[in-house]
Amino acid sequence: MNIKTIEWLGDSVCLIDQKKLPLKKIYVKCSNYKQVAEAIRSMQIRGAPAIGVAAAFGIALGGLKTKTEDKQKFISEIKKISEFIAKTRPTAVNLFWAVRRMNDLVIKNSGHPVPFLKKLLVAEAIKIYDEDIAINEKIGKYGAVLIKNNDTILTHCNAGALATAGYGTALGVIRKAHSEGKKIKVFVDETRPFMQGARLTAWELKEEGIPHVLITDNMAGYFMKKGMINGVIVGADRIAVNGDTANKIGTYSVAVLAKEHKIPFYVAAPLSTIDISIPDGSHIPIEERNPREVTHIMGKQIPPDGTVILNPAFDVTPHKYISAIITEKGIIRPPFKRSILAQFS
Ligand code: MRU
Repeated sequence: MNIKTIEWLGDSVCLIDQKKLPLKKIYVKCSNYKQVAEAIRSMQIRGAPAIGVAAAFGIALGGLKTKTEDKQKFISEIKKISEFIAKTRPTAVNLFWAVRRMNDLVIKNSGHPVPFLKKLLVAEAIKIYDEDIAINEKIGKYGAVLIKNNDTILTHCNAGALATAGYGTALGVIRKAHSEGKKIKVFVDETRPFMQGARLTAWELKEEGIPHVLITDNMAGYFMKKGMINGVIVGADRIAVNGDTANKIGTYSVAVLAKEHKIPFYVAAPLSTIDISIPDGSHIPIEERNPREVTHIMGKQIPPDGTVILNPAFDVTPHKYISAIITEKGIIRPPFKRSILAQFS
């Protein structure tokens, strides 16, 4: 893909506005950390790894623009900036992982002068960005083994280059299998209400020339029953120690359908998406977003005035529905708790 999701420009952060894609390719320049935070909150940038990278760039930018030369004041300023950015979205753990990594770095190097700390923060954010692409390529390599020639794979939401620093997790696996010459077709769930599938995944697949078909979310069962789908790959926003996985709302329904039809259901995610501090999915905070995302399509109101709306942005798929989790270290299979803890020991 020619377009960069996010880029560090030395004194600002540039990102493609994912709310406008695919109709308009508009770049947003963030000159301060508050603008980066707003881009995450409003979902101009979205996808768990991408918001982790954006958070790291936001902290680096905030640090760079801080005036004080006093080390203690600088460290507390970084803490304040981090807390501000951490309040943007609650579910994807990559955000908090990146914030912690940036803060740990300044605390570990607190003996150094402020200009040095600023450089360290920028270097660390760029490292997080670079690492994310390398990790996704590894996920792609391990995951592609699970895809056979002539497979038809369903994906939900967008776990592609746009949801990461580049390449993608679930779409990275699909990209890799396609590049190996396997003939595959992708069923893309449109992913109401934000339409990440219809707008972003369909666009990425078109750019890559990967055969795909767009369906509405309620069609997945129909095509599974007809034997037209033989694998599901999705990304993740947070994975608990027992393998329970939070991902875009609707993922749980797809996983239940997949189990009913004996179709393997794979989660592709970096280890930074695994939250080993929580035993199971019931501890994952689920973001509730603006009702307008449900009531309005392309600016036009659909239900009658006053209709009560619920808009949880994620759901949790219990681990019993997951066949394997594909990470940069290889394929994790059940029993997940043991296999996941082994990755962190
Ligand atoms: O609300 P979003 O668009 O940020 O949700 C994104 C997802 O649910 C993705 O599937 C997940 O973050 C994995 S991205 C590699």
